[in-house]
Amino acid sequence: MQSAVKKAIFPVGGLGTRFLPVTKSSPKEMLPVIDKPLIQYAVEEARAAGIEQFIFVTGRGKSAIEDFFDYSYELNAELQKRGKTKDLEIINDLLMAPGQISYIRQQEPLGLGHAVWCARHLIGDEPFAVLLADDLIQSQTPCLKQMVDAYKNKSSGHMVAVQEVPLEETRHYGVLEIDTISKPLLKAKGIVEKPEPHTAPSQMAVIGRYILDPSVFGVLESQAKGVGGEIQLTDALAKGLTDCSSPMALHGFLFEGTRFDCGTRQGLLRATVAFALAREDLKDEMLLILKDYQLHS
Ligand code: G1P
Repeated sequence: MQSAVKKAIFPVGGLGTRFLPVTKSSPKEMLPVIDKPLIQYAVEEARAAGIEQFIFVTGRGKSAIEDFFDYSYELNAELQKRGKTKDLEIINDLLMAPGQISYIRQQEPLGLGHAVWCARHLIGDEPFAVLLADDLIQSQTPCLKQMVDAYKNKSSGHMVAVQEVPLEETRHYGVLEIDTISKPLLKAKGIVEKPEPHTAPSQMAVIGRYILDPSVFGVLESQAKGVGGEIQLTDALAKGLTDCSSPMALHGFLFEGTRFDCGTRQGLLRATVAFALAREDLKDEMLLILKDYQLHS
């Protein structure tokens, strides 16, 4: 049995250039799907999976994220004065116990592997989760909870969320080379970052949810730059698999649910429609809107 996963890293240092101009002065993780920013969905998913320590790896221009999860004295006082109990509930829900959230600054944008490595002292020697907020997942059971439950039965190793993608899209993802399949788990014998379709070892792509063994920090310590000139987490997982002194198993986890790539405009639009249709207070309105636009297009 594995020890429980209690800590999660949220890498939020990226520049978000794909969403310019809005990301010029606002972090991409604060882009909303309806009335919640992407980072809130990720934090709620982590909480539902039993995470107790939340570690944000931030960069310049990301202070809106810190403010968002902080107590806002003025807003609370004003809402109290106006008797807005429902709104108070909504913002108080975001608060965690003092010390549950930490922020680490990634001084240079050197890649996902480097961002994760920056949090090594706060993680210590226990398995931990990594959540990429621009992968938004709509599911019955939160995706990370599905993974934590599956991870409990393992003795060690890394686990990554995967889904099958069209061959022409492999160049956007880490892709598994599969050894054996025992659904929902895929045992990997390799993993490659952003392979071109003709070299992709499979169509099983990594989605931004990871449960990692802390041995990954030792590998990241000396990890050379990879695709895009960045220190890639994928490369460290690949090296862990073949390191003969202490090989570290890697499993893909085929999660139940729909993933929206909110790192793209199209994905964010689709997520907005899907999440509105799933909400009792917005479903009918969204159906009307869709019908209206269909009639007029
Ligand atoms: C990152 C990872 C990649 C993974 C993807 C999931 O890439 O490096 O392996 O498949 O997230 O969204 P990015 O989208 O940051 O380029």
